[in-house]
Amino acid sequence: MTNDELITKDVKSLYVHIPFCDSICFFCDFVKVKKTSDEQVWQYLEKLEQEIESYRDDLGNLETIYIGGGTPSCLNEECTLKMLQILHPFVKENIEYTIEINPEKVSENKLELYKKFGVNRLSIGIQTFSNPLLKKIGRIHDNLEPIRVIELARKIGFENISIDLIYNLFEQNKDDILVDIEKIKELKPDHISWYSLILKENSIWGKLKKKLPENDEYFDEIINSKLIELGYCRYEVSNYSLNNKISLHNLSYWNNQRFIGVGIGAAGFIEMNNNLYLTKNEGNINHWERIDQLLSQKEYYFQIIMMGLRLVDGIDFSKVRDGALALDYFQSELKIHFENKLLELTDNGFKCTPRGYEIMDNILLDII
Ligand SMILES: C[S@@+](CC[C@H](N)C(=O)[O-])C[C@H]1O[C@@H](n2cnc3c(N)ncnc32)[C@H](O)[C@@H]1O
Ligand code: SF4
Repeated sequence: MTNDELITKDVKSLYVHIPFCDSICFFCDFVKVKKTSDEQVWQYLEKLEQEIESYRDDLGNLETIYIGGGTPSCLNEECTLKMLQILHPFVKENIEYTIEINPEKVSENKLELYKKFGVNRLSIGIQTFSNPLLKKIGRIHDNLEPIRVIELARKIGFENISIDLIYNLFEQNKDDILVDIEKIKELKPDHISWYSLILKENSIWGKLKKKLPENDEYFDEIINSKLIELGYCRYEVSNYSLNNKISLHNLSYWNNQRFIGVGIGAAGFIEMNNNLYLTKNEGNINHWERIDQLLSQKEYYFQIIMMGLRLVDGIDFSKVRDGALALDYFQSELKIHFENKLLELTDNGFKCTPRGYEIMDNILLDII
């Protein structure tokens, strides 16, 4: 958990993982533990502080900070204050500073504390506005809590509010999706991440070996067309923005920028001594260490294309470092997809055509 080497001057984003949750949702595969005490959280924050300190020289030019989890909002006010104080030295003017919050237990005080320390973007995990479904997926809030939090947050002055929803949940039907759309129409969040259910082995449902429902494409089409009717812009496979309030933090991932991740389970993408590494913090909440995976040239170029094609506007060579080299590297494999009009050149890069976007995985399989 020490880092003596300067990683790169180009680190623009920091991800901070807070692994504690008040209860565990059945679908969730993220790194998290059930919170047992405030002392447990405090001790975790002390280790986090040491880890961040070890990166101090790399974090001078941050453009985004993202506190995710787990449930960062389940920390009591004392721990919340400590967490915000640890990060405070890296909060510069004009930074995008996001915290993930769950609708339950978010008090006015806590929101004010976030605001006071420069947090300017909230990402609220709602998942669905159907109360019966919320129960079935193991959530502990009802559909009124998110409305309360959004109203409160706006009153306090947050002008960039994102919500997370999931579709293709078990027993979710078209009417449930239309209720979610109606709520979006009323609440007008600035940003929506709406992912299809993913079932991974480590989630409670994954362990029960449940099979995914088959409504994925059907719901995807409804969601796309309805959100576009409401004025949202789909800028990435599962992300939509109003008035161009895209997630700059996530954009840095899709645009192949270097980032550091701190806390248990956090991933990063860094450059050391002219080599590129994907990093992952492995261990437990009491002790974790960074495992570095050296990227080969092929893996690096593949990553650029895999991440960049997720954006509707694709890979812009003026924003994506080495984007042009990646296209050049895979030109013989990608030629056929340009000819078949699944990929197309843009003014300064390339992207999927609408048809290519639907079958992006097949394109990627050819270069993996
Ligand atoms: C890991 S959670 C952390 C934030 C917060 N604790 C919450 O529950 O919203 C971030 C988001 O990932 C999404 N997510 C988590 N597990 C998922 C799954 N198995 N399939 C699809 N989306 C998932 C949810 O929408 C969730 O809001
Ligand atoms: S979805 Fe959020 S609240 Fe639920 S277990 Fe995962 S991290 Fe915790």
